[in-house]
Formats: sequence, structure tokens, C-alpha cells
Amino acid sequence: MPFDPLLLAHARHVVVFTGAGVSAESGIATFRDKLTGLWERFDPAQLASAEGFAADQALVWGWYEMRRAGIAQANPNPAHHAIASLAARVPKLTLVTQNVDDLHERAGSQDVLHLHGRLDAFRCYRCARPVEALPPLADGALEGRRIEPPRCAHCAGPLRPGVVWFGEQLPEPVLSQACEAAEHCDLLLSVGTSGLVQPAASIPRLALAAGATVLHINPQPQVSGHRREFAIAGKAGEVLPGLMTRGFE
Ligand code: APR
Repeated sequence: MPFDPLLLAHARHVVVFTGAGVSAESGIATFRDKLTGLWERFDPAQLASAEGFAADQALVWGWYEMRRAGIAQANPNPAHHAIASLAARVPKLTLVTQNVDDLHERAGSQDVLHLHGRLDAFRCYRCARPVEALPPLADGALEGRRIEPPRCAHCAGPLRPGVVWFGEQLPEPVLSQACEAAEHCDLLLSVGTSGLVQPAASIPRLALAAGATVLHINPQPQVSGHRREFAIAGKAGEVLPGLMTRGFE
């Protein structure tokens, strides 16, 4: 039985749970896409880790700066805009993302729960002091090169991006807020995620177990067969605008 878009209009509390796929049509590579250039021989999990940073700070900092430069040049796509507009159409919407870009915010979404942190929040790797002013992007960052990380003004330690690295704890209270929303929503839209990385990947299952309906939007959706779990195979930027139209007609 296909998903009934009118569930959107009847929902009291919608959770939208997004992954890298929601930014793919903005030109931002997903984690399942093969890495290129200097990073071709690495798995993202090797680079997105304290061990990877300690092993080669310039390689890892250069990778994040290339991604930051790419995000700065990117624009929110119709999926980001549809999600931002949904917030005004339902009584309550909680947006939970695994993404570290700011495209949801630039599309107008507010109070975004970033489970894996944000690329534009830097702190000192040594003393953990947050950095207020974003360091300017180094020349050639977009092309991709090794870049020595700037130094902390307080202890001269290297800066690191404010993202959650593999093996690190997800930020609180963000994770608790995301789980609470999943357990109390009546509809969860899972958009553009492979569902491979825990504990974030448990969010849709929490909603399903608590009685919500879950809809996956993905070119290659993975569904469990649960009677309240649905999927629309397609690109988020193409599926979401139409869903918004049919959901409130
Ligand atoms: N629209 C919707 N989904 C898409 C699109 C698109 N245009 N293009 C690709 N996808 C889907 C892919 O089919 C895949 O299922 O997006 C998903 C991207 O999966 P990942 O690259 O694994 O990204 P994500 O699920 O967000 O990864 C979770 O893993 O590497 C860590 O911390 C990183 O937050 C990330 C986490």
C-alpha cells in the first residue's frame, strides 16, 4: 500500500531526519560517494577521527576546508526549501540532521538538531576552547590540498572542526532531544540517509516503535517491511516538493 500524502496534513508532530542525500542535489558529495584527489585512498571514517587528525593534521584539516569551501559555494536545493516550508504547515516540526553543512539553515529552517555537529563550529583540539571568528578559507582550499590547521589563540593548539568524529560521543542535549522527538511524533520523514551509522540510524526505528508512520525518501530506499513503514524511491529535491503539494491539497 503506498504512502498516503494526506498523513502530512493530519500530523500533529512531524520529525524530518536527514542525511547527506538531502544535500546531494546541492552538489555536496555524500559519504557513500568515493573520495577523490589527495583523499582517494582513504575511507571517510579514517579522516573523520581523532586518530586520523593526530596522524596527519594538515591532510585532515585540508579535507574539511575543501568541504567547507564546497558548502560555501553550494546553495540549498528544493528539498531543503520544502522541509523549511513544511515547518509552517504542521503544528510541530523537529528537524534532525546528520549533516554538518548549514544548507537547512540557509533554506530557512530553524532550531536544527545537528547530531554530528557543524563544520562551521571550530574549537581547539588541545584545550577545546571554541573559536568565535571562523578562520578565512585558505587559498586553494576548494581544489583540495594539505593545509596546516590554524592555532588556538589561548594555548596554540591546532584547531579542529566542530563535527563528531567516529568514536566520539554525539552532543547532548541534541541526541536526547532527537530521540524524544522521534518517540513522540506521529510521522517521521527519513530523507537521504543510508542508515549505516549509529546511534543516529536508530532515530527512524524509535519513531516506528513508538507508533509513528515512517516514510523513507531515497533513490535506493531500505525498508523493513513494517506495516507503518513506507518508501518513495527518488531524489529528495524531486520527491519532496510534490509530496508537499499532494499532502496539503
Ligand atoms: N536524494 C535523496 N537521497 C539521496 C540522494 C538524493 N538526491 N542522493 C543520494 N541519496 C542517498 C543515498 O542513496 C544514500 O542512502 O543518500 C544516502 C547517503 O548516505 P551516506 O553517504 O551514508 O550519508 P549519511 O546516511 O548521512 O551518513 C551518515 O555517516 O560518514 C558518516 O558522519 C557521517 O553523517 C554521516 C553519517
